[in-house]
Amino acid sequence: MSSLLIDNIAELTTNDPELGPGVGGRVHDAAVVVEADRIAWVGPASKAPQADTRYDAGGRALLPGWVDSHTHMVFAGDRGAEFEARMAGTAYAAGGINVTVAATREASDESLYQNLVRLTNEARRDGTTTIETKTGYGLTTEDEVRSARIAARVVDAVTFLGAHVVPNGTSPDAYLDLVTGPMLDAVAPHVSAVDVFCEQGAFDEAASRRVLETARSRGLATRVHGNQLGHGPGVQLAVKYGSLSVDHLGFLSPADIAALAESPTVATVLPACDLSTRMPFAPARDLLDAGATLAIASNCNPGTSFTNSMAFCVATAVLQMRLTVEEAVRAATLGGATALGMHRDGWVDPRGNAQPRVGMVAPGARADLHLIDAPSASHLAYRPGMRLTRAVWIAGREFGQ
Ligand code: NIG
Repeated sequence: MSSLLIDNIAELTTNDPELGPGVGGRVHDAAVVVEADRIAWVGPASKAPQADTRYDAGGRALLPGWVDSHTHMVFAGDRGAEFEARMAGTAYAAGGINVTVAATREASDESLYQNLVRLTNEARRDGTTTIETKTGYGLTTEDEVRSARIAARVVDAVTFLGAHVVPNGTSPDAYLDLVTGPMLDAVAPHVSAVDVFCEQGAFDEAASRRVLETARSRGLATRVHGNQLGHGPGVQLAVKYGSLSVDHLGFLSPADIAALAESPTVATVLPACDLSTRMPFAPARDLLDAGATLAIASNCNPGTSFTNSMAFCVATAVLQMRLTVEEAVRAATLGGATALGMHRDGWVDPRGNAQPRVGMVAPGARADLHLIDAPSASHLAYRPGMRLTRAVWIAGREFGQ
């Protein structure tokens, strides 16, 4: 097994309180040893063991790779005109999803696959090492299964979002029967979780309960899109049904924040989506202060957030949501891993391979690393909009090499 020593690291974010102080578990003048796909050793450079090869980090900062726990990247088509109209004053409405559904149904498997590869390559080049994506732009059994199959070839976690909107020309009751019946049966073997868009214009409380109950009765993990367009029951349902995460969270009551603080359900905020829809920023500061586990994700999709730059999301969370850099980096790495259940060893990727945990730079974790062209992670927000990525390793292999 070959080993790699990365040394001359000015600042290492580990996310492990046993390795360094603060929520980032930062170590200065650090080194990391990678063996095969895992981190083998972490500590001060002066104590680093020998390895087969050496990479000189040149006095830069090293972080865990970003874990993007919420994207919708299996789609075709463009909604630039809808975005432009929104910037001219038209409010975002869930109905735009059906525009992408029509384009996605028309597209060939190959073009959906190539678009997904293009988007995930963009993300990986910019430091994202673990990616979740959802179905939800097919909305027929055939199109949802093919979306899930295509996603499973490319990403680390696939979520079934048949309950995205009721497709045009379908009765809501008939669609709910389909999505909780034959469609779920057909998609379940290809996904690790089920999501529901619990929102006005999408699925109401009773329908969302049915989606969550059915998924749970089949032993599938669940997630909820909630409290995006207004205050609704999404958070309380996610907590009640033990969902892995509830995502969006622009409109929360004190009771919602308290419920998330007391539950293992991860509160996932999507700063780029809040910006691109001109909706209120999710109260990430209040959620953290209350004790909730926080994740930051890109929500990359053609309607509400057409970016997969986690660095942009982190900078926005610091500058607009009042997080510290350490808090935002942790939420975009270990927080995302927790939202996907990948903060523990043994999660199984869509290709059937058991994987070590992600979201930390600690012995035993997957060697997912992000070197930035700066001496400290603080530059991610201090220099907003700059592309700082210098090198990325995914499971011990340098991406793009
Ligand atoms: O997360 N909220 C629901 N789904 C997406 C929107 C997708 C779209 O408009 O195409 C979201 O914002």
